[in-house]
Amino acid sequence: MSAIPGSSADMAMENDYDGFAEAYTIENETSLINAYYARPAIVDLAGDVAGRRILDAGCGSGPVSAALRDRGAVVSGFDRSARMVELARQRLGDDVDLRVADITRPFPYPDGAFDDAVAALVLHYLEDWTAPLAELRRVLKPGGRLIVVVNHPIMLKIVHRETDYFAITRWSDEYDFNGQKAVLTYWHRPLHAMTDAFTAAGFRTAIISEPPPAPEAHELFPDEMAGFPSGAFISFLFFVLEAA
Ligand SMILES: C[S@@+](CC[C@H](N)C(=O)[O-])C[C@H]1O[C@@H](n2cnc3c(N)ncnc32)[C@H](O)[C@@H]1O
Repeated sequence: MSAIPGSSADMAMENDYDGFAEAYTIENETSLINAYYARPAIVDLAGDVAGRRILDAGCGSGPVSAALRDRGAVVSGFDRSARMVELARQRLGDDVDLRVADITRPFPYPDGAFDDAVAALVLHYLEDWTAPLAELRRVLKPGGRLIVVVNHPIMLKIVHRETDYFAITRWSDEYDFNGQKAVLTYWHRPLHAMTDAFTAAGFRTAIISEPPPAPEAHELFPDEMAGFPSGAFISFLFFVLEAA
């Protein structure tokens, strides 16, 4: 592995979702990349979810769970951040199974408990995907689907041209979430390392998607969208995997 100079472990409070839970949640509610890109793309890829039991791994404050529940899914979720889970509980109510749990540890659910799972914008925080993918496979029924959303692997090369695309690399970026400064630290990995990890965990890659944002994005974010004449931009990469 390698690390980008200046993106070292000493950066204070990186990935501190407890510390910026409210600010991140407000941002996520209306932002181009969450509300008008990632979330509608996940809903599209999930298709008809009526009656399906869906696990939202790294659920944050529950916006994806809420969108899937609105379409008839029976959702469960967990997140490492207790504050994010508290906000998810406020959003989704007490009758939804929400837990504080770490995706790198054994999951608190029995084998085959879910029809589908979503891991949206969480795996890119992890250096090693082996244990999380094995657990996601374990809790899915055979034939169940896993929707994964991560930073597009070309992002690191776009932000840091000097980097080696093929090296698993730790890097950080600074954000402003509704006026609160935050540092997020990611693990970049090349595309083949992602698909190899899915295969090793017992998944078949059914779809790799680079979707455009929702149509309203053009009207709501004219300045941002002006830079993308084809109507699409590079931010995240979306996968639909099937449990073999
Ligand atoms: C960018 S937010 C995405 C939230 C939600 N999935 C969405 O798409 O709106 C990332 C979430 O991953 C959670 N997270 C980060 N590392 C985690 C880990 N090791 N285990 C469980 N959750 C984790 C964070 O606490 C945060 O709520």
